[in-house]
Amino acid sequence: IDPTLDLFVEIERLKKEKNAVILAHYYQEGDIQDIADYIGDSLGLSQQAAKTDADIIVFAGVHFMAETAKILSPNKKVLLPDLKAGCSLADSCPPHLFRKFKESYPDHLVITYVNCTAELKAMTDIVCTSSNAIQIVESLPKDQKIIFGPDKNLGAYVAKKTGRDLVLWNGACMVHEIFSREKITKLKERHPNAKLLAHPECEDVILQMADYIGSTTGILKYATNNLATEFIVATEAGILHQMQKDNPNKKFFPAPPNNTCACNDCPHMKRNTLEKLYLCLKNEMPEVTVPEHIIARAVKPIERMLEISA
Ligand code: 13P
Ligand code: SF4
Repeated sequence: IDPTLDLFVEIERLKKEKNAVILAHYYQEGDIQDIADYIGDSLGLSQQAAKTDADIIVFAGVHFMAETAKILSPNKKVLLPDLKAGCSLADSCPPHLFRKFKESYPDHLVITYVNCTAELKAMTDIVCTSSNAIQIVESLPKDQKIIFGPDKNLGAYVAKKTGRDLVLWNGACMVHEIFSREKITKLKERHPNAKLLAHPECEDVILQMADYIGSTTGILKYATNNLATEFIVATEAGILHQMQKDNPNKKFFPAPPNNTCACNDCPHMKRNTLEKLYLCLKNEMPEVTVPEHIIARAVKPIERMLEISA
């Protein structure tokens, strides 16, 4: 890339020329969030992907999110700045093992968290995100037997909140399992008025201490609407960019991790850079594709989720 290029200007130009839209998750680097047409949580992003009239969707997020966009808009070109932007949670649930797991509970309905592969969605009855998981479980009859995967922490939280007995797949996100209860307690002692905001992918020991539990959009809204001026944020650090931008007079502390070498950045989300985003829009690659037979089955559980959350 020519170092004299202003990537913001170039990306804007290419976007217009190609009728492209940039959808970005809150865990993306600040520059990408700033150039995006829409920033949101997984539910918001899939709603946008379903309704956009752009010809090209540049998905600044991870692979399963771009796949979801492709499933919802199969006639559009869906680009991902770095094809290797995966997800440890999606990886923790290989489809061939999940198929066997499902077979051992034949009378159960399957709810999968959107953080999974398209192949897994094709084996699912209803998809959910962190912002509607409780609502989706509650939309089903009380005696309905349910398998919930792949995130055991979100699953346990939903089971607790709804009083339902969910059969959980044993998967987790590498970023949300690093937070230290002891270090958060110490940070709270130094900032006694700070509210702890946590994502439901965190372990129960962290969720028990939280003042608010919700999706990235939920966390952002809570911080904006709450009168407190200090917040400890137990989720991926990218969300702090928007929290700080929307609330310049409030203070946000990333929740400290267990291991001092660890950090709250998702290595998959952070594979995308402004440079890669520019190149993928310019070259219209890498493109995310999903086989037609998978799209045909995976679209139903995603549309069911969108209908329930409408
Ligand atoms: P939400 O933005 O839907 O809360 O998802 C968080 C996440 O882990 C995405 O990878
Ligand atoms: Fe996956 Fe966790 Fe990264 Fe989200 S933060 S993309 S769940 S590894």
